[in-house]
Amino acid sequence: MDARPRYDAGTSTLADRYARVRRLSEALVAPLSDADATVQSMDDASPAKWHLAHTTWFFETFVLRDHAPGYRLHDERFPFLFNSYYEAEGRRHARGRRGMITRPTLEDVLAYRAAVDAALLTVIDDLPEAARELVALGCHHEEQHQELLVTDMLHLFSENPLEPAIWAPERKQPVAMPGPVGWIESAERVVETGHDGHGFAFDCEGPRHRALIPAHALADRTVTNGEWTAFIADGGYRDARLWLSDGWAWVQREGIGAPLYWEARDGLWSRFGLDGRRPIDPAAPVTHISFYEADAYATWAGARLPTEFEWEAGAAGHDAGGGNQLDTAGAVEPRPSPGGPAFFGDVWEWTGSAYRPYPGFRPVEGAVGEYNGKFMNGQFVLRGGSCATPRGHARASYRNFFYPHQRWQFTGVRLAKDV
Ligand code: AVJ
Ligand code: FE
Repeated sequence: MDARPRYDAGTSTLADRYARVRRLSEALVAPLSDADATVQSMDDASPAKWHLAHTTWFFETFVLRDHAPGYRLHDERFPFLFNSYYEAEGRRHARGRRGMITRPTLEDVLAYRAAVDAALLTVIDDLPEAARELVALGCHHEEQHQELLVTDMLHLFSENPLEPAIWAPERKQPVAMPGPVGWIESAERVVETGHDGHGFAFDCEGPRHRALIPAHALADRTVTNGEWTAFIADGGYRDARLWLSDGWAWVQREGIGAPLYWEARDGLWSRFGLDGRRPIDPAAPVTHISFYEADAYATWAGARLPTEFEWEAGAAGHDAGGGNQLDTAGAVEPRPSPGGPAFFGDVWEWTGSAYRPYPGFRPVEGAVGEYNGKFMNGQFVLRGGSCATPRGHARASYRNFFYPHQRWQFTGVRLAKDV
């Protein structure tokens, strides 16, 4: 193991890191009214107010309550409201009812945040090392919720017929259409995979172990909107032979014919984004597709999804902090790649790998042991980080996970082939 403290993201102190993470969450919700921050648009998404409070509850519970002698809860009723899924923390409000919590108000929640920040920053330098590690975990946790805040806000506003733009569009540099995919070939080999112990990682990224990858070729970029429109035009959503059985049932049941937020008007595709409704950019990576769609597209293209091990080996040597990721509040969307192999940012890439424990995985003792391990069932691994992932959060070993029908995150696809 490395001697560097595991919470050291760069050169800042833990207190600086904490303060910066907390500030970004608040910047993200700055355009929201109390009503905007209260509504829940679907069971998978949470109100912005709930994200702000839940991340605060995490620090209050696992750091202040457990490690700051004499700390008194800001409000004894809050744990019931803002515990997400920790059985060890007792009963909690139903996930699908989070939009009913009109009180506490947004202002009350911001006051909760300020109170916990003040208490935590007072004790932070005197906390035992185990508690400082929990502060670090809480920062990474809040970064995950920042991405969810962005994608949940997008989903909420997509439900409003006025299609409001939350953020002004980024001024785009004109970029040429990406050329045909380049294929990165690899012979059959055994690769070291999983987190190597340098710096922070979630428990599900280890233990590091050896995996056999077959001879294969990995695309050097993700699939674009332009390529996706060819799939649609070729009847991709109407040809059962391209689809997994569950995927085909989903397409029919939900009437799916395009990525989420796409709409055809007079034969022209547009998409709804944080900057309102705009024409599709054919050069940009396709996003808001489910695992089922990614798999059907790969079948149509005569390819397959990469495994998470192929992806991780392919991403070796690439800068996890590079590419189009979240730096500040503002309109985010996948952007055309400037060229050359790209692995981080823009869209989370579906892999064909089940989100299951690596050999030897054991969740830690106690409530935080529920963080990842108990979700290792029925979900697929996504790799690479997206335009809504706070820069510095993703890593080569990072395993994101969602159910195969879910597509409100910035999800996309990279192809692989057997050779
Ligand atoms: C890794 C994004 C699937 O959304 O539940 C938030 C992140 N974990 N709080 C999720 C997470 C605990 C997690 N995902
Ligand atoms: Fe959480």
